[in-house]
Formats: sequence, structure tokens, C-alpha cells
Amino acid sequence: MSVGDEREFTALPFEEKYWPDLGKFLEIRQKSLEDIEAFWDERARQLIWIKHWDQVLDASNPPFYRWFKGGVTNINLNALDKWIGTSVEHKVAYYWEGEPGDKRAITYGELYREVNKFAWVLKEVIGLKPNDTVSIYLPMIPELPVSMLAVTRIGAIHSVVFSGFSAQALAERIVDAKAKVLITADGFYRRGKVIDLKKNADEAVKIAEERGVKVEKVIVVKRAGNDVHMVSGRDYWYHELIKEAPEKAYVKPEPRKADDVLFILYTSGTTGKPKGIMHSTGGYMTYVYNVFKWNWDPQPHDIYWCAADIGWITGHTYIVYGPLMHGVTQVMYEGAPDYPAPDRIWEMIERYGVTIFYTSPTMLRLLRRFGDKWVEKHDLSTLRLLGSVGEPINPDVWKWYFTKIGGGKAPIVDTWWQTETGAAMISPAPGLALVPLKPGSATLPLPGIDADVFTPEGKPAEPGKKGLLVIKKPWPGMLMGIWGDPDRYIRTYWERFSKPEEGIWIYYPADYAIKDQEGYFWLLGRADEVLNVAGHRLGTAEIEDAIVAHPAVSEAAVVGAPDPVKGEVPVAFVVLKEGYEPSEQLEQEIKLTVRKIVGPIAVPAKVLFVSKLPKTRSGKIMRRILISLIKGRPIGDVSTLEDPSAVEEVKRAVEEFKKLMQQS
Ligand code: PRX
Repeated sequence: MSVGDEREFTALPFEEKYWPDLGKFLEIRQKSLEDIEAFWDERARQLIWIKHWDQVLDASNPPFYRWFKGGVTNINLNALDKWIGTSVEHKVAYYWEGEPGDKRAITYGELYREVNKFAWVLKEVIGLKPNDTVSIYLPMIPELPVSMLAVTRIGAIHSVVFSGFSAQALAERIVDAKAKVLITADGFYRRGKVIDLKKNADEAVKIAEERGVKVEKVIVVKRAGNDVHMVSGRDYWYHELIKEAPEKAYVKPEPRKADDVLFILYTSGTTGKPKGIMHSTGGYMTYVYNVFKWNWDPQPHDIYWCAADIGWITGHTYIVYGPLMHGVTQVMYEGAPDYPAPDRIWEMIERYGVTIFYTSPTMLRLLRRFGDKWVEKHDLSTLRLLGSVGEPINPDVWKWYFTKIGGGKAPIVDTWWQTETGAAMISPAPGLALVPLKPGSATLPLPGIDADVFTPEGKPAEPGKKGLLVIKKPWPGMLMGIWGDPDRYIRTYWERFSKPEEGIWIYYPADYAIKDQEGYFWLLGRADEVLNVAGHRLGTAEIEDAIVAHPAVSEAAVVGAPDPVKGEVPVAFVVLKEGYEPSEQLEQEIKLTVRKIVGPIAVPAKVLFVSKLPKTRSGKIMRRILISLIKGRPIGDVSTLEDPSAVEEVKRAVEEFKKLMQQS
């Protein structure tokens, strides 16, 4: 990636209200960092609280920072209740569209009533209590935001599991969260087929029970109408339960302390076990409310579409809590972006008159490949802001997005952030003051965010030099910790650069970055053993653990290979046990094992069989060598290598893989 040399794009012909305003932005940012507590105190006052906080930031037990200590609220008050009796009550919250083309339009008033009914059901019929955990395994249907809001309304904690995850992955998350209730669906549509979700859910409940966590109640939304087996006394249809609720059901939003857990969301780390990231009630609410406003400058007439899945953090923040807190009208879509034709997305933007569109570079690369004729069929002139998230956006894709999709008038809001950060951290903020854009850079840290780039030794990196991204001050959207594992929280995010004896605490996101001469940040991908496949975060260890579950496998090492659409794809180096021979069939079986244990997104693009892996004398796999070979880089220092012939074998396997990729 070229850095900082794309200045022809700094004077973009934006609408007048978006003329770049670096000076104003820097001033706001500077002021915010001088006193972050005063800054966030004022921002939190824009929201509804049952009781105001006594202390903006409790930093007495770092890195367990607690925001708005003493404050009491419920996010429903800001996302739903506040709209009742205003004109927003009659405004559409979600224009939902199923993959087959079926449609629903749900107003804020309807959403409020449905959430109240379901909250009533969860409380009165299911018997959920505050702080109980509920796993939600639903596709992109309106009942997903309804469930999340109903759960938080009664003070319970949701753990949404992406509907593309396998039964085993769901079971693992149910067990870790100790969820007694699961909300799921019969099935959903994907590329014209019905995916039988209930079957996975049933299997997950069985596995969870074997591991000591009994799911007592399963609530099933009827979406696809496929045949499902309902277990008597355990499984209930959502629509039948809803009928039991009084027509005018009202459930008072449970008062929650600012530092009560709002939700858990699992994400991948460097070990096989996913981390339950905990977000707070008051801090997350405040951060998301403000960042949403800065990112999108929401206006009453906007039609906003974040084409992510709610199963990931982007959907939690930018499809559920952020937009609802601003009374925004959204488009929500169930299915594949290129089904039934490659212009599904562009066609929908035109039909709904979308003004703000937020997606991932992977989706853009996929859709660009089909050719511009699909874009040109549609009038996209309503678009006024475009967003990008999840992975670095290549400058050429950025330019295509800007000119071809946005018609050269819609600024691109490239948002760098993580499951752990709650909302965007480094990104343009047209709702505050738009800075000049550089294609491929997420621009500058938002107000209140003290980001920098460090050398591996913990010194500030020179401008233009690649280093490691760090965040030097706490922010309200930060995770509270890892569910059930405080030590892992400290180890993963704080140990790398903090100096507790000096009172210095530095958050380490594990991303490479460059800060250029003008202070712009260029995000360059993960610095740990985590892959970013199509904008989805996957731990290499998670995939390796799944592969070695196959009885023929002795050892496995997974690395990311560059991919023109998905950014990177997993490639597995596999050593077989004695008595097994490499074969096409074995490769398929191994792929199937990964699909079963983790899910389709984790399936390796290729399994490369080798007789040994490059290791150090102490027996540690030298992953660095595998990565260099797969990425076509020099392999560097190999003095600690135990058996150099292992490298030759891996080299041959990689060449074979590259030939195959070229052919396809
Ligand atoms: O490596 C960064 C990449 O995605 C990681 C976070 O993944 P996840 O927790 O799944 O959240 C994704 C949605 C926020 C980061 O550590 N990443 C995310 N956004 C960008 C990005 N890399 C470059 N540019 C971005 N805009």
C-alpha cells in the first residue's frame, strides 16, 4: 500500500455541508483529550438516564475502568421509549426484506409494542430475571433486534451468536455464557436455499447439556416454514408466546447500573477458546450514541443501510443500538448480496432511496468483480455517505466506491474499530467536521480517542513507519472485560505495553498501523494469530483445534493466504498420523470437520499435506516461516530451525497451492 501519496483526493467535490474542515475537527479533538472526563460527561447528558452518575470515570482499578459510576439507565429508554408520542413513533424503523423478496415495514411504535410483548413473555412466561444470560441464534429477521431489545429491557444479558456458526460453536458459547434460554428460528434463506437453523440449535442444546449446561427453554421464530422437531416442555413457538401477551403489554425498563453488563459477544482470539467480550450499559450506550452521530450525521429523511449481520459487533452497534437511538429509518436484508443477481444491493439502494450505505471491503470487492454494468443499471444518486468496515480497504476499491457508487459526491467513512471497542475509533466524522480524505486511510482518531503507533519496544513510531496501534486513554465504549476470565482480559489487551508500576495503562488492539506525517492512520491488518476472512475475525488456533479433531490428523498449522476478494483465506498445513496417506477425500473430510466444528466461514481454502512442519528446537511451530512462504516474502532468520528440510517441503506445498489458485 502506498502511504500518504493520494492527495489528489483531498479536495473532493462534496456537497457544501461536507467541505473538509480539518481545523475544526482537530480543535474539537484537542479539547476532548485535554479533559476526557469533562468531554464524555457532557456527551452522556444527551441521553436519558434514570439517575445521573456520581463519577464520570472510575479508574481506581485499572484496567477495569468503569464509566458513569453510580448512573442508572436502560438502553431501551433511548432506543425505543423516547420516541413514543413523537413523530418518530410513526416513522419506519426497519424496511426489512427477505431474500425471496418478501417485505415488512416496522415503525418505531410497532417495534416498541412488539418488544414490550416479548419482554412480557420473557419475564412472565419464561421467567427470566435480571442478569440471566440468553443466547440468541437468529438470522437477519426483525425478531433479532426485537429479541435483543426485549432481553435488555428486562435487564437480562444477550449473547448473540452469528447464524453462520455451527452447532458446536453455538454450544461452546452457550456453555461459556451459561445460557438457560435460547432464541432461534426454524430456518432462513441463503442463496435460494433454506438453511435448517433449528437442527443446529437442537444439536447445540444437546452438546451443551453433555457439558453441564442445560438450556431449559428454546423459543423458535417461524421464518422459513421448514419442518422442525419441537421438544415438548422445552420448545415454544415465538408467535404463540406473543399471543399470550396482553395487547397493551408494557414492561417497565429494568433500571440498570451504568456498569452492569449490557451484552456479551464472542470473538476470536489467539487460543482456540473464543472470548466473551462484555459491554457495559452506560458506557456503550453513550459511546455508540455519539459515534453514530459523528459517523453519519443522521437527518430525519435518511434511509440508512448497514449491510452487515447483527451476529457481529457491527450489527449490534450500527443496525440495532446506534440507529435506533437516533430514530433512523433502516433497510435490513436477510440474504446473500449477489442473489438472485449481482445487482441485488444496487437495486435495493435504488428502490429504497438509500442515503447512507455501510458495508465491508469484501462485499465491495465481490460486487465489483461482476462488472460495472450491474451498477450502471441503477440510479444511486440518493447516496450521500458511504461507509467501510472490518478490514483495510484497498485504495483502488476506495476510489471505485467513491466514484462509481457514490458518484464522486459521497464521502467515504472508513471506520476502524473492533468488537472490543464498541463503535468506531478511527474514522472520518462528517457529523462533526469532515477532514480531507485519503483513499485507504481511516483518517484520524475520533474525539476522546488517544491513539498512537508504537514500535515493538513501546516507543512512539516515527511518522511513516509501520508499528503497532495503541490506545492510550480509556473510552466509554471499551469492553468491561472477558466474561469469566479477568486474567485473559489483562493478558490480551493490556500486558503488551502497560507499565502498571508507573500507573501507565495502554490498550493493545493487535493491529499493525502507520501514522503518516499528517497524523493520518493507515491500518494494516492483524499483528497476532488472528485471521480476517471476508471481514470476519477467526483465530488460527480455533481452526487448528478443529482440524486435529479429525482422527487422521497429527498436527496442523493454519495461516492466512492473500485473496483478491476475501482479503485473506485460511490455508492449512497438515501432518497426518502414521498409516494415513494424503488424498482428495481426506482433504474434503478435514474441510467438513472444520465446517462442523466452527462453521462454513472457517473452512480452509486448501489443505496442504506435509510430512513435517518447520519447528524450533524446543518444538514450537515456526508459523512466521509458513506466513512468509504463503505471502511470497523472504523467510528471514532460520537459525532456530530444527530441521531445514521441513522448509523445503512446505515450499513445495506452497508452490503447488499457488499454481492451483492461479488456475482457479
Ligand atoms: O484488524 C482490524 C480489522 O478488524 C479487526 C476487528 O475485528 P472485529 O472485532 O470482528 O470487528 C470488526 C468490525 C468492527 C480489527 O482489529 N478492522 C476493522 N475495521 C477495519 C479493520 N482494519 C482496517 N480498517 C478498518 N476500517
